[in-house]
Amino acid sequence: MPQTSKTTVAEMNALTGALSPIFGSVASDVELPVDHMNDQPVAPQVAAELIREYLSTEGNAHQNLATFVQTYMEPEATQLMADTLEKNAIDKDEYPMTADIENRCVAILENLWHADPDEQPMGTSTVGSSEACMLGGLGMLFRWKALAKAAGIDVYSETRPNLVVTSGYQICWEKFCRYWDIEMRLVPMDENHLSMDPELAMKYVDDHTIGVVCIIGITYTGRYDDVKGMDKLLAEYNKTAKVPVRIHVDGASGAMIAPFIEPDLEWDFRLPNVWSISTSGHKYGLVYPGIGWVIWRSKEALPEDMIFWVSYLGGQEATMAINFSRSAAQIVGQYYVFLRNGFEGYKEIHTRTMDVAHHLVDEISKMGIFEMVYSAEECPILCWKLVADKDWTLYDLQDRLRMHGWQIPAYPLPANMQETVVQRIVCRADLSMTLVDKFLRDMKAEIANLDKSHIITGKTDREYTTSFDHSGR
Ligand SMILES: Cc1ncc(COP(=O)(O)O)c(C=O)c1O
Repeated sequence: MPQTSKTTVAEMNALTGALSPIFGSVASDVELPVDHMNDQPVAPQVAAELIREYLSTEGNAHQNLATFVQTYMEPEATQLMADTLEKNAIDKDEYPMTADIENRCVAILENLWHADPDEQPMGTSTVGSSEACMLGGLGMLFRWKALAKAAGIDVYSETRPNLVVTSGYQICWEKFCRYWDIEMRLVPMDENHLSMDPELAMKYVDDHTIGVVCIIGITYTGRYDDVKGMDKLLAEYNKTAKVPVRIHVDGASGAMIAPFIEPDLEWDFRLPNVWSISTSGHKYGLVYPGIGWVIWRSKEALPEDMIFWVSYLGGQEATMAINFSRSAAQIVGQYYVFLRNGFEGYKEIHTRTMDVAHHLVDEISKMGIFEMVYSAEECPILCWKLVADKDWTLYDLQDRLRMHGWQIPAYPLPANMQETVVQRIVCRADLSMTLVDKFLRDMKAEIANLDKSHIITGKTDREYTTSFDHSGR
């Protein structure tokens, strides 16, 4: 610290409180602002520590088995991302190498999803799958409008354009339909069809259909829609359709799993009617939130009206994302993970995560009181329902597990199956076998506790007696 003639170092330290232990300093008495900014500045270490302490009361991300979103990156990646936080991803002229890295990531995904370079695929990074789905949906809407007009369909009539998706859709599709006044046609699912039934979906398709959304995997269960089956039926339909109907694959999780785990599964641009694909880089793309990607198979698939041009190295670069300014750190993080892992690294990580999921499926099945609704067949997600006659529900088990820090949601399946309550675990790379074994011990102990406990007010009301046996943790 520079010393002036008037102030000694000791005096300056006293003034700034630099030598006080953080929790002994006057500044640590500052009440964290709730709705007004504090009047005076607070020393950086104190401010950081106070906020860190406040956040520390939240759940432990590694025990949050509810989320698909990445909770671990290597320290080198975290450092690299911290070093690039100030770069604005949209400022391509200022940060041409960052822009180049984004283009490389897009090209890597085009390749991974079997786009044909001759068709001139295009794509962009986004904040997450929601923005990517929004863009995929807009591409369908713009294409439909142009083609429907050309086919003599009144696009301004009372009949709204519609989008076909299963009742297991993620909320971003409801947002998309509401924002752009599109009728959401929900293909029902039932016990026998826990994903899209292509034959049934075709009954919802007509001249006002902007597209069909296939999901891999469905948020509720993890199951993949039958994209290949849908593609085949649409190929037949499109032979005589006034407006051809194409598929957007919402691969929020599956698009970054299937290429490594089931490379022969055809769900991507190998299928001629798959015209756009979106994914979350921050799910099985293995980057911290928020990053997503959307790719269109060809120049024809991405309507010109959606492309805006920004200056780049004296030239022009296409941009088609909804957001403008945001940090490039996640893009750099995605490129790091691509480079660091390579194809084989991703495969190893996802294979191990699948092994963990299968171990959980085996152990939970062995408990003899649950039935698996989804057993991590395609992606490392499992969900089960309670089939034994018990005085407790999965909601009770969810609460008990929460006492050990585990966040494992129980919830009803969507329309038509609301009476089925399931509990779901999303396995991620940072869920080790050791942690899983600890979880299984906790789960068994809590089931024993629930069996022994007396639920006072019945199955829907979750009140317990206090005499739980907490052994076996
Ligand atoms: C199938 C599906 N689509 C879209 C989304 C939205 O993803 P994001 O959180 O990246 O916006 C999710 C999130 O879980 C999802 O599961």
